[in-house]
Amino acid sequence: MPEKNRSVYIETLGCQMNVADSERAAGVLRAAAFDLVKSADEADVVILNTCSVRARAEAKVFDRIGEIRHRRNGAQPLIGVMGCVAQLEGEALFQKRNSIGFVAGTRAADRLPDLVNRALGGESRVMDLAERLPGEKWNVGVEHRTSGKTAFVPIIEGCNKFCSYCIVPYSRGREKSRPASEIIREIAGLKTQGYEEVYLIGQNVNSYRPNVIDGLEEVAGATPFAKLLRAVARTGMGRIKFTTSFPRDFHTDIVSALDEHENLCNWVHLPVQSGSDRVLRAMRRGYRIADYMQRVAWIKGARQRLALTSDIIIGYPGETSEDFQQTMELVERCQYDGLYIFKYSERKGTPAAKQFDDVSKEEKASRFARLEELQRSIQTKIYRSYIGSMVEVLVEGASARRADELSGHTTCNKIINFSTEGVEAASLIGKPMPVVVTEAKRNSLYGRIAV
Ligand code: SAH
Ligand code: SF4
Ligand code: F3S
Repeated sequence: MPEKNRSVYIETLGCQMNVADSERAAGVLRAAAFDLVKSADEADVVILNTCSVRARAEAKVFDRIGEIRHRRNGAQPLIGVMGCVAQLEGEALFQKRNSIGFVAGTRAADRLPDLVNRALGGESRVMDLAERLPGEKWNVGVEHRTSGKTAFVPIIEGCNKFCSYCIVPYSRGREKSRPASEIIREIAGLKTQGYEEVYLIGQNVNSYRPNVIDGLEEVAGATPFAKLLRAVARTGMGRIKFTTSFPRDFHTDIVSALDEHENLCNWVHLPVQSGSDRVLRAMRRGYRIADYMQRVAWIKGARQRLALTSDIIIGYPGETSEDFQQTMELVERCQYDGLYIFKYSERKGTPAAKQFDDVSKEEKASRFARLEELQRSIQTKIYRSYIGSMVEVLVEGASARRADELSGHTTCNKIINFSTEGVEAASLIGKPMPVVVTEAKRNSLYGRIAV
């Protein structure tokens, strides 16, 4: 009699790259005769895909292991840790929690079946922190994608920038771009499978630089990334978004590509981190505020209105109240559609960790609140300016507020809830729809379908 398949549950913490890695891991595990399940409660194997960008994200791994084990008062599952914490901590994880059976680094997703089988077979402390093997292909089946309509497509992995505060270059290794022909083929395939939207993802998408320019020879653009955008637009995929952009590598030809192609979405995420040149230098970001504002001018000068969002770290070591004031002024000038604000979190092994984390907890909280308040007032104004206009929405499902209302993201990446005006809601899910904006809150728009 054939043995029953073992079941695996994968839980994803962290960024979209982790979401993509988990999808890939699910694919290879299914191909190796594991059943993928949706809860840790009944799984034989639980894999946590982890993030270490800030202390709180890292602590979550241990919280989750505790919770999962506590809920299972019967048979305990085999627990594995993959992703950024796995890559950075390696062997030390086994010492921290002896319930951990295996550790798989950020480039070991394809080798998970072997690691899991060895751990299930009784081998203890199974670990793989190695690079990807040549020839490993990104090949994720529809059944393992998080959504049937929106797909994450990694175009570049890793980071070479080594910003002084950031752990990512250590957890993800050096930048490696996927061949353009492979990306274009994947997106063309997604289109035939009924996908309406792709996100091109990477720590710095506009640093995209493949070894060979296959598939982009005939495409216009001053940089490989702008060429790739145009080539992806030509697949006819409904909506194409990309994140994250790195200011130094953001060139004007990206805006030209967005101007030319309707299906390249009207949104750019361009993290600035600080409004002070002095702090930017200490952070080793490689640009000054004047350079950043040049990029903002290109973006604001585009043919259609492009939404602009950003990340800011407050309380970087040595950040004075004048530095912070410059950040406030920058945020005022940029008029961001959205802003993620983070309190500086010291990461072991980064250059910034050698500096004294001298901005007090109280001061960080106060700066955070002031910046948040400023952004709130800017955002309220921006969101209100959409009232009366028509936006295109990819319908995702029922809204959190009301069952007879639907919700989705606009091409400018804003959440919108809308009434269906008598059209059967279920028939609209997964489709792009025109919606008229009738109301605005700080973080979401409201409207009615325009049919
Ligand atoms: N590659 C992107 C984003 C990387 S991580 C970029 O360079 O912009 C996402 C965000 O987390 C960063 O933009 C930064 O704002 C924040 N971040 C990274 N390291 C941090 C740290 N040590 N403390 C607080 N925030 C951090
Ligand atoms: Fe981190 Fe800087 Fe790389 Fe972004 S560019 S991932 S902040 S090192
Ligand atoms: Fe976190 Fe690693 Fe992404 S540290 S933000 S999961 S690259």
